[in-house]
Amino acid sequence: MHVTFRQLKVFEAVARHSSFTRAADELHLTQPAVSMQIKQLEAATGLPLFEQVGKRIFLTDAGRTMQHYSRAIAQQLEEAEQALEELKGVQGGHLRISVASTVNYYATRLLAGFCREHPGVRVSLDVTNRETLLRQLKSNETDIALMGQPPEGLDVVAEPFKDNPLVVIAPPGHRLVRRRKTVPLSELERETFIIREEGSGTRLAMERFFADYGITPSSRIELNSNEAIKQSVEAGLGLGFVSVHTLELELELGRLKILGAEGFPVIRRWYVVHRCGKRLSAAARAYKAFVLEKGGMQ
Ligand code: PGA
Repeated sequence: MHVTFRQLKVFEAVARHSSFTRAADELHLTQPAVSMQIKQLEAATGLPLFEQVGKRIFLTDAGRTMQHYSRAIAQQLEEAEQALEELKGVQGGHLRISVASTVNYYATRLLAGFCREHPGVRVSLDVTNRETLLRQLKSNETDIALMGQPPEGLDVVAEPFKDNPLVVIAPPGHRLVRRRKTVPLSELERETFIIREEGSGTRLAMERFFADYGITPSSRIELNSNEAIKQSVEAGLGLGFVSVHTLELELELGRLKILGAEGFPVIRRWYVVHRCGKRLSAAARAYKAFVLEKGGMQ
């Protein structure tokens, strides 16, 4: 049977999503490319692996058997990769890190320190939001994630390394900035807030905060990056709710101000996270130790 690993990878994604379209999205392929890989796999096995009932697709018996073996093969390959990484040791390994977009500002500086100490390590860094990070951890696409507290019940090891204070920002000329006294939440409620997209940890924290105090800001504009939020606040579109770690430059240049508002700062924490059963390579172990040792101090 002539089967390629790529075909198995595509097959696994289609089987997991029960959808060619969603598998294509995940693998950054076109739908015809996915169909072609599945056709070739079916030709190689000599049996249909999927059947279409109405609009949905299902695994056939042969498909289920194939799924069992393709998972085992993927697992074995991954173990081989980890064992080889281990042999390369801390000076030669490949390290896959994913960081929440809010942590990025801080994480790149941390990474520069790590790379100075371990110049031989090849690093891939992915910057994304909380929801995507959780998916990457589940599907083992990353070795280590730096992010806000992961949800209960996920099989991960999560160790805190730094406080992440969340604040409300305004342009320097805003009427609430000139206030001497703490701004009450009833005043904030009347303001337009520029907020992060669904799936962002910052957004989740903001919603919890507003729900705890029973307030609903009158209007909201949604943007999917910290940079875009800061620029919009600077331009006078509304107030922002962001991590203080994203603000260093703007505060220094006086382009944005932090509001002294009731209940703020909201203190969250950042965690260094990996899957429980993950066999961390020497490079990943060294990186985790580096974050825990140096992370809180920078
Ligand atoms: P995010 O990151 O808002 O970019 O998702 C913050 C977090 O996970 O705490």
